[in-house]
Order: sequence, then C-alpha cells, then structure tokens
Amino acid sequence: MSPTVIGFIRISLLSLFVGVIMGILIAVGVFRNVTNPSLITSAHAHINLLGGVMMLIFGVGYHILPRFSGRPLFSEGIARVQLWLSGAGLIGMFILFFAGGYSSSDFLRYGVAPFGALYGAGAILFVYNMWRTLAGATPAPPPLRPAKK
Ligand code: HEM
Ligand code: HEM
Repeated sequence: MSPTVIGFIRISLLSLFVGVIMGILIAVGVFRNVTNPSLITSAHAHINLLGGVMMLIFGVGYHILPRFSGRPLFSEGIARVQLWLSGAGLIGMFILFFAGGYSSSDFLRYGVAPFGALYGAGAILFVYNMWRTLAGATPAPPPLRPAKK
C-alpha cells in the first residue's frame, strides 16, 4: 500500500474510534445540557460519515480501483494533495461543530463552511483522479476455469 492510502485508512480508523465513543456519550446524555446539542450530533454524524466512512472509501478506492481497471493511478501527487485537504477539512469541521455546540452565537457554526470547502475540494480531486484512471480501463479478462480432472 502507498503511504497515501495508509494515511486515508489511519484517519478513517481514528475517526470511527472517536465517532462511536462520541455516539455512546451522546446516548448516555453527557452533552444533554450544552447550549446547542444538535451541533454535537452534527460533529458525531460528520466524523463518522466524512471520516469513518468516506476516508475508508477514498483509501480503499485509491488502492483497488487502479488494480481493477488494469491501469496505474492517474496521479499519486493529486491523491497526496487530497489527503491533506480532506484531512484538514475533516478536523476543522469536527472541531467547529463540536465547539459550536457550546457557543450561543452562530459564528462557529458558519466556520464549518470553509473547512467543508476544503473537504469538498479534496473530494473533487478524488473524482477527477479516478475518472482519469478509469478512462483507460482495460476489459476484464475472462473468468478462469477450473482445471479438467
Ligand atoms: C457506538 C456507535 C454509535 C452510537 C452509540 C450512536 C449514537 C447516536 C445518537 C445517540 C445520536 C443522536 C440521536 C438524536 O438524539 O437525534 C446519533 C446520531 C447520528 N449518528 Fe450515531 N451512533 C453510533 C455510531 C454511528 C455511526 C458508525 C454512524 C455513521 C456511519 C452514525 C451516524 C449518525 C448520524 C448521521 C446521526 C444524526 C442523525 C440525525 O440527525 O437524525 N452513528 N448517533
Ligand atoms: C464537506 C461536506 C459537508 C458539509 C460542509 C456539511 C455540513 C453540514 C451542516 C452545516 C449540517 C447542518 C448542521 C446543523 O446546523 O444542525 C449538516 C447536516 C447533516 N449532514 Fe452534512 N455536510 C457535509 C457532508 C455530508 C456528507 C457527505 C454526509 C453523508 C455521507 C452528511 C450527512 C449529514 C447529515 C446526516 C446531517 C443531519 C444530521 C446532523 O448533522 O445532525 N453531510 N451537514
């Protein structure tokens, strides 16, 4: 696996770890009395979905889709840039959603947007990189037959 793929998968695993612990804490009512509990739920939802789910999809996608298509990844450099953009976007979104839960102004809630844009820019790079990789995909080889006895 490339270091970029490992980076995506590590961020996904850490996100899932934080996300499920947070889910349990929400369920037992730890954040019940914060100023804005729905933003705490948003922090939980997005660390699980954008972190746990999507970062695993990006990492596994970068590893396996080029192999399925019989072509090298279009650009390893673009994948590395996406790791930083989506990683920074995810962390920023999580911190601001979470901190927004404790704030009575909308300032932190809107602070999610620029970090969401970083994450989104990373996701668009993924789309471009994969599109270019799949564009030259070779036809699948015929399935192997078991040897005759
Ligand atoms: C141990 C695991 C988990 C626990 C205990 C848990 C618990 C919770 C709780 C208590 C809520 C708030 C419900 C409410 O008051 O409205 C919630 C919301 C949510 N959770 Fe989890 N969760 C867990 C894992 C996950 C995972 C793995 C995902 C996604 C992959 C996820 C996605 C969501 C989403 C999207 C919401 C928001 C739903 C909405 O706004 O209606 N959760 N979760
Ligand atoms: C970078 C992209 C994204 C940004 C900036 C973003 C931002 C937001 C914001 C601001 C809210 C409303 C929070 C509130 O005021 O209560 C929200 C809700 C929600 N988003 Fe996202 N979102 C993004 C991507 C996604 C993706 C990809 C998913 C699913 C895979 C998702 C699932 C949800 C769900 C389930 C809710 C409602 C649950 C909740 O937050 O309580 N979002 N999102």
